[in-house]
Amino acid sequence: MSNRRTFIKSSAFLAGSLALSPSILYAKSQVAASDKIRVALIGCNNMGLGILRHHIALPEVECVAICDVDQNILDKRIAEVGTATGKKPQRFTDFRKLLELKDLDAVIIGTPDHWHCLIAVAACQAGKDVYVEKPMANSIGECDLMAQAASKYSRIMQVGQQQRAGQAFIESRDLVKSGYLGKIRKVNIWSNFNYGLGNEFKPATAIPSGVDYDFWLGPAPKREFNPNRFHGSWRHFWDYGGGLMSDWGVHLLDMAIWVEDNPSAPGHVMTYASNVNKENRDRDTFDTMNVLFPKKDFLINYDMNGGLQTGPYGKPYGIAYVGDLGTLVVNRSGYEIYPEWDPTAEANKIEAKKLEGTTESHNLHVANFVECIKTRNEPNCPPEAGRIAALHAHIPNIAARVGAESLVWDDAKRKFIGNKEANELIFPEYRKPWVLPKI
Ligand SMILES: NC(=O)c1ccc[n+]([C@@H]2O[C@H](COP(=O)([O-])OP(=O)(O)OC[C@H]3O[C@@H](n4cnc5c(N)ncnc54)[C@H](O)[C@@H]3O)[C@@H](O)[C@H]2O)c1
Repeated sequence: MSNRRTFIKSSAFLAGSLALSPSILYAKSQVAASDKIRVALIGCNNMGLGILRHHIALPEVECVAICDVDQNILDKRIAEVGTATGKKPQRFTDFRKLLELKDLDAVIIGTPDHWHCLIAVAACQAGKDVYVEKPMANSIGECDLMAQAASKYSRIMQVGQQQRAGQAFIESRDLVKSGYLGKIRKVNIWSNFNYGLGNEFKPATAIPSGVDYDFWLGPAPKREFNPNRFHGSWRHFWDYGGGLMSDWGVHLLDMAIWVEDNPSAPGHVMTYASNVNKENRDRDTFDTMNVLFPKKDFLINYDMNGGLQTGPYGKPYGIAYVGDLGTLVVNRSGYEIYPEWDPTAEANKIEAKKLEGTTESHNLHVANFVECIKTRNEPNCPPEAGRIAALHAHIPNIAARVGAESLVWDDAKRKFIGNKEANELIFPEYRKPWVLPKI
């Protein structure tokens, strides 16, 4: 516990900057070379940088290399990390070359989702541990390949579902599992975000200088450059992401799966999806979805609205564990229990409880990963957990794409029952020269 407290204190960053405090820089200088953990970042624009920031705040971690296919961002990040740590990371534009580094323990994958599988499998094959952002991959089949690779090559793989390290979520899970709320009948999840609509249409342009767009597309179909299908907004197109469903849905659904007695893949999934705001928006993915996942322990009820930003309990997004004795509502800011009323006893059935002021937990999820690199213990979000969470996002997306209100997934056979079109979307078709990895 004292280690955890020390870490929280020592990892406090200057807001939005990579700057490290003098005490961290001093602590770093005291770590013996043999105790250092050497990491590299692949895909350094936004979240990748955020995750790297939490790595380099740990005394034992050193960033030895950064790779990106956009040289403008790459050069900026190399300079920033060099200034923050006093040591310039090596520069790569091809992750395969980076993976040849001998003195490299782990990679952070902060690329768009369509790249996660190829890079993660290659990293495992090169003997590197992997922190891969969520969703684990952009398809059901690629998640499987990644889990197989981590297992075959005995690598630590942490999937970036950082809520598993968050205090509000850990306490909520403990309360649910302890039976405090009585029998849980439903887990209601809602996810309302303006950005879920995507951008307004923009014309195609020349490829920005310094960008290798063919490499950025990688295994995805060849296309002319359009800024909407690039940094940040790629997530609204099936070739690279799964929209709000796999962007936020995967985080929130993970919190329902996490409280199951035996976390399980979806079986029968019922999906309603529509696009109520599409005419002036450049997007493949859906803005409106309701999905029911009947599970052994309870029903998961997922409600998503891209383009709205208000929701139940005054929160744009959240999770409500609905028990016989009360409902616990949680998001990244905290939780609150709403007790049921007992009319006979004229009293609440349980005591109300509240936790406020919690924040993001990427730093703790990263600390857990680095600890597991050393101990070889299972991390907070191991590959199988990442795979199951991703399935809860990909299956409704597939249902919506093939127009099936009801789909049945047979996880043992890794197939949908009786839906050929859905089965065709289990794996993406890779564009040459990229080929789906064989494990
Ligand atoms: N855990 C979270 O809370 C959270 C939040 C946001 C994003 N994410 C995830 O992080 C990942 C990155 O999202 P983002 O918003 O940072 O995207 P982004 O578009 O801002 O950045 C992606 C970067 O990857 C680079 N890239 C693309 N292909 C590459 C390749 N083959 N090799 C090297 N670099 C490559 C791009 O040039 C870009 O710099 C996604 O998987 C996303 O779902 C997670």
